[in-house]
Amino acid sequence: MNPKFIAPSMLAADFGNLQRDTEMVNASEADWFHIDVMDGHFVPNISYGMPVIQAIKKHATKPLDVHLMIEKPERYIEDFAKVGADIITVHYESTVHLHRTLRQIKDTGCKSGVVLNITTPISVLEDILPECYMVLLMSINPGFGGQKFEDVTYQRIKKLKALIDSQNLDTRIEIDGGVTDKNIEALVAAGADTFVAGSHVFKSENPTRTIKRLKTLSNQ
Ligand code: DX5
Ligand code: ZN
Repeated sequence: MNPKFIAPSMLAADFGNLQRDTEMVNASEADWFHIDVMDGHFVPNISYGMPVIQAIKKHATKPLDVHLMIEKPERYIEDFAKVGADIITVHYESTVHLHRTLRQIKDTGCKSGVVLNITTPISVLEDILPECYMVLLMSINPGFGGQKFEDVTYQRIKKLKALIDSQNLDTRIEIDGGVTDKNIEALVAAGADTFVAGSHVFKSENPTRTIKRLKTLSNQ
């Protein structure tokens, strides 16, 4: 069984106080920084790119989990690796030659992962799973933080876990969107082990304590 990881999403951080929020995550029980890159094409929102990632990397003492919500991510893999990505995930829906893109990620020395939108069948992963360090299942429609978690995610996690087990792999299952202290235990029970949390962490009164609570609940 994989250890449980918490990855606060920096999309919900205060960009005017990026160093402060990065150091908060450093000092917390979080495992990774989750970094959402949006291009205004693949998703209807634009977030940030290389300079901001570089700024986070300058202070971060934990791995950067870079989630690319961009069309044709293969154009920028080396650039994201260069500014400090440790894990790079690309959407199944965003790249025609997924196998080549995952190899490209590995060639940079980063860990590779595939992201599925809510309606993309789990079965598309069957032949590509051995190339994935992690699969990220979206539990919202990507593009914005602060949306409501979609319950269909539970059955999708179970299906993915069964597929991973059937291939004797230990691929991580990351959940992104609407994760809170109310649903994290059920997500663990379904088979997930890696949790992104944006607004639930950064909009809380005490983000450090919220991260600790998520970590504790995920380990029960
Ligand atoms: C949305 C992003 C998420 C987002 C999650 O497209 O992929 O990582 O930051 O935010 P919350 O936790 O607020 O749903
Ligand atoms: Zn994300």
